[in-house]
Amino acid sequence: MIDASRYGPWAVIAGASEGIGEHAARQLAAAGCSVVLVSRRPEVLDALRTSILADDAAPGAEVRCVALDLATDDAADRLCAEVADLDVGLLFYNAGADVRGQVFLDRDADEVLGMVRCNVVTATALCHALGRRMRDRGRGGVVVMSSGAAIAGAALIATYSATKAYQQILCEALWAELDGTGVDVVCVLAGTTATPAFLRTAVLTADDPSVMDPAVVAANALAALGHGPAVGASDELTQMFAGLYTVPRTMLIEGVSAGTRANFGLDG
Ligand SMILES: NC(=O)c1ccc[n+]([C@@H]2O[C@H](COP(=O)([O-])OP(=O)(O)OC[C@H]3O[C@@H](n4cnc5c(N)ncnc54)[C@H](OP(=O)(O)O)[C@@H]3O)[C@@H](O)[C@H]2O)c1
Repeated sequence: MIDASRYGPWAVIAGASEGIGEHAARQLAAAGCSVVLVSRRPEVLDALRTSILADDAAPGAEVRCVALDLATDDAADRLCAEVADLDVGLLFYNAGADVRGQVFLDRDADEVLGMVRCNVVTATALCHALGRRMRDRGRGGVVVMSSGAAIAGAALIATYSATKAYQQILCEALWAELDGTGVDVVCVLAGTTATPAFLRTAVLTADDPSVMDPAVVAANALAALGHGPAVGASDELTQMFAGLYTVPRTMLIEGVSAGTRANFGLDG
């Protein structure tokens, strides 16, 4: 269980209403951290707040909701204003999947740039603003949920794989820079996970043996704090991803692109 005296008293979960973020919030509250739940649907956040307080929260743990689209230009500023009065010890940046494959040039430019804003711009701005506050107080943690898609560019998820690679490289650099400051940084590369967003696509089902439980991914991600810079969401995935780095680049890109085409049942 996560150490609330090290990563509390408040944790900000960006992308908290369901799936990995929801489970991270429940697990953090059970460990005694107060949590800020951030995502777009206010009614879902309010229901989750009630559920966490009733079912999970350790005595004294509080829950605050912030309904916000992380893909907007001012998202980081707005979120920082909402948590300005809180002693934030953990950022868990979870939002930002692309569960719908489509050729880059056939997507709307705003969709593509929205993914860049969510996965790159807002994630970076929050690491910067909240990371500074953690460094000043001498302790804290940053967890960024990335993906195996970070390892190579893949057809049909071009912007997604590029932004997930950015997240990994950013975390690796911050891990190096913050060594010795008391702030732990880790990027967690998830494989296929039975989140509601993923299940809504019906590409795979939750009982497929390759699909992970989001509660397990959340627990492994929190347990990875202090073991950065980047890990898979399970030991098996860490090993598998390490093996992929040894594959010649062109062969790797062709292989992962064949995988996304097969997954989505699409050409491109
Ligand atoms: N599921 C997988 O198979 C898989 C595989 C590899 C990596 N991952 C990584 O795991 C993370 C979570 O993925 P997921 O499958 O749960 O899907 P997701 O679409 O990223 O949703 C996760 C949470 O983020 C919120 N969210 C999404 N976009 C948002 C936005 N623009 N602004 C604010 N909140 C937003 C969602 O709530 P609202 O809709 O209420 O806003 C939800 O609570 C992602 O970073 C993804 O790259 C997932």
